[in-house]
Amino acid sequence: MNTRNYIKKGRFITLEGIEGVGKSTQAVRLGAWLESRGIPVLVTREPGGTTIAEDIRGLLKRAPQGSIPAPCELLLIFAARQAHAARVLRPALETGHWVICDRFVDASYAYQGGGRGLPKSRIAELESWLVPDLRPDLTLLLDLPVPNALARLSGRGTRDRFEQEAATFFMRVRNAYLTRAEAEPERIHCIDANADIDAVEAQCRAPVEALIAAGDPC
Ligand code: TMP
Repeated sequence: MNTRNYIKKGRFITLEGIEGVGKSTQAVRLGAWLESRGIPVLVTREPGGTTIAEDIRGLLKRAPQGSIPAPCELLLIFAARQAHAARVLRPALETGHWVICDRFVDASYAYQGGGRGLPKSRIAELESWLVPDLRPDLTLLLDLPVPNALARLSGRGTRDRFEQEAATFFMRVRNAYLTRAEAEPERIHCIDANADIDAVEAQCRAPVEALIAAGDPC
């Protein structure tokens, strides 16, 4: 077993959504806002957040289309996640940081489950083996219809291996996200990412304010 008992003193917030919805911008804004309120914050991302996990991220993004079978993709993502959890997420949460993570396990259910069609049960096995103790306190799902999200991507230059996927792939990913949000409305808050950037930020802050008001996690 490679998880250990740890006392979580900070809060764990994740941002999710398909490409082009503006998650990364909102993660940084949310981090700066929490810091301005005197809360210790760590902003990180998946896949990534450690040297090895960033290497895996590069591999996953730069590999040619069709070169990574879906189960291999899932295992690489969980390999990166294990390192990130052990070296970054648990230590930060233990020392009282609020962790804002750009994507986490919900992305595996949405992309590898919904998008690639891998069985949910396989993803659940990896989750319960490797990160059973890292459940987000709050997940902000930035939602945008697929054509709008892809239109935003088209202005960004070269597309990586995921971004090159067809609209139908992103429709499956989005549906999987929305299904998870429907099943867990307490944790997963749907944000209308079609609004302007400040309005999206305000929508993101509201449930975080509630988390602050709820007080200490322990
Ligand atoms: P992004 O954070 O820049 O969107 O890039 C990360 C890519 O990795 C994105 O295309 C989604 C993909 N991904 C998965 O397929 N499964 C996962 O579990 C995670 C965390 C990311």
